[in-house]
Amino acid sequence: MNSEMNAQEKMKQTAGEYAVKFIQPGMIIGIGTGSTVYYFIKALSKKVAAGFEVKGVPTSRKTEELARQNGIALIDLNDVPLIDLAIDGADEVDSNLQLIKGGGGSLLQEKMIAAASKQLIIIADAGKAVDRLGKFPLPIEVIPYGWKQTAKHIQQLNCNEIVLRQKEGNPFISDHGHYILDCHFDKIDNAALLSQQLNAIPGVVENGLFINMASIAVFGNEDGTVRLAEK
Ligand code: A5P
Repeated sequence: MNSEMNAQEKMKQTAGEYAVKFIQPGMIIGIGTGSTVYYFIKALSKKVAAGFEVKGVPTSRKTEELARQNGIALIDLNDVPLIDLAIDGADEVDSNLQLIKGGGGSLLQEKMIAAASKQLIIIADAGKAVDRLGKFPLPIEVIPYGWKQTAKHIQQLNCNEIVLRQKEGNPFISDHGHYILDCHFDKIDNAALLSQQLNAIPGVVENGLFINMASIAVFGNEDGTVRLAEK
């Protein structure tokens, strides 16, 4: 691991561990996915081991497994009236707390859980803060059937390049059996409009723009401090 990697990892750890401060006993928590959330799960498991009672709704199979291994009680999304708080990572966060998510391929379940939550708090290394969304290729979850047609429609929304996500030489398959198209927009001027346009395309299941969902972002800095952004 080079020093840049180390610094980013440290920032993720700082943000992930800080987020347990928001958890109150008895809460139902949406548990996000990714390398920053890993640190949140580890920190939460320590509180649980010390007698803190919470229930988690995982945003992916990976998180479900990790949470179970760390002794966190889980509950199905269908069995909760409302989630108190969801904690999740992001790939880009702008100054209005609009997000690009889905770098880990779990955007559909992440968005459903965010939508079922009273509050969404984002944890990220400081490098995820951007002036404008779009440098990170936007993940779009699509039905495998006829995906090239779906991609053609996406291309018409001023997308420069579309890449079918791969894993070990085959198309990446999401937890819900779909493909992910990584769409290079470079810069996104109107994220709310783009999100609506994308979701209106037949074959698109969900896109990685999270609009007006997050209320707080916790950015971990290299020196171990955090910067809080609130909406
Ligand atoms: C998972 O699908 C994503 O939305 C992640 O939340 C996002 O990619 C951030 O992941 P890291 O914390 O690993 O950077």
